[in-house]
Amino acid sequence: MAGKKPLIVSLVGARPQFIKLAPLAQRLSPKAGHIIVHSGQHYDLMMSEIFFRQLEIPDADYNLAVGSGLHGEMTGKIMIRFEKLLQRLRPDMVLVYGDTNSTLAGALAAAKLCIPVGHIEAGMRSYRMDMPEEINRRLTDHISALLFCPTEQAINNLKKENIKKGIIHSGDLMYELIESSRNKIAANKRLLDRYHLKHKQFLLMTMHRAGNVDDLGNLEKIVNILLRLNMPTLFPVHPRTLKNLKKCNLIGRLKKVSHVRLLKPLAYLDNLTLISNARTVLTDSGGIQKESVFLGTPCLTLRDETEWTETLKWGNYLVGLSIDKIQSLLNKSALPTKAISYKIDSKKPSEIIISSLLGYLRGN
Ligand code: UD1
Repeated sequence: MAGKKPLIVSLVGARPQFIKLAPLAQRLSPKAGHIIVHSGQHYDLMMSEIFFRQLEIPDADYNLAVGSGLHGEMTGKIMIRFEKLLQRLRPDMVLVYGDTNSTLAGALAAAKLCIPVGHIEAGMRSYRMDMPEEINRRLTDHISALLFCPTEQAINNLKKENIKKGIIHSGDLMYELIESSRNKIAANKRLLDRYHLKHKQFLLMTMHRAGNVDDLGNLEKIVNILLRLNMPTLFPVHPRTLKNLKKCNLIGRLKKVSHVRLLKPLAYLDNLTLISNARTVLTDSGGIQKESVFLGTPCLTLRDETEWTETLKWGNYLVGLSIDKIQSLLNKSALPTKAISYKIDSKKPSEIIISSLLGYLRGN
């Protein structure tokens, strides 16, 4: 490899992966050949293209166009198409991100071709094997050569599973991107006028986990929670959630009340602007839990556990689907939050990731 730039392939396919790719792609291309492959898992304008445009991510070099489907179908299709591409490209390393079906499919295809896998956001655990993401992240970690851990807890989780080699404490690329977006968030505050909202006088709710929105009983509970909130509430609806709300005839109930405003999925900057101006965020998303506490807005997580255990010290509260817990927290005048830093030894996560992977490929 002496004198020659290594070739790195990034496989992404879903919203949170585009967000993690953005700061890395910017810094990686001068130092390595970088090919971006889109699996096609997310394909709507607001679920995919808008992120590439807004975050100035170079267009994907290849799109595997797998679309939606059952887990096996999607994972299998990505593997088949990605394997063929990898055989042609023969990269020095494949980077996969987070815990989606695209992550696991990419890691499996690469590892079986003996191409080292770098897993961005390794070591996260919910210890809930009924979550598809937990299966994806565990298996990916066990076949990765480099494990980029955002938190110390992630490192401990890997050690408990006897994974000892290739662990790097990289910090969190999502924080890095928020930090570099702060001015843009402040300049985007006019967005509140569009929805006739005032700073810290509204709630923002997002809900998309299969365990919450594919189960009719849980979906009904979520609708009842929304109906009982006593403040203007924006609810950008994920396509999975919208499909189920329509299928179960629940959407009409939400449309009847004036305090809930249903929206299409939000672009990155608008989402951060609303998070930072909301009084409280209610969500089941991993990324939004972090974005809320990092922007100083309290977060109520509608799950019984979180992979991001550190956030529980910083203003994130686990409330399950309990309306009583939600109301009692919302009734408090202010929920405590704590500011946090995203740098490790004053280095940015993208710098740590790139220097570690280049070192690994040089054999250091
Ligand atoms: C996936 C990830 C989840 C991540 C989330 C971010 C898995 C198992 N889950 O969940 O970890 O938090 O992305 O959003 O990989 N759909 C559209 N348009 C799209 C994409 C999806 O209409 O652009 C609809 C389809 O009906 C599809 C459904 O949403 O069947 C679910 O999409 P899918 O990619 O399977 O899972 P997500 O819920 O998005």
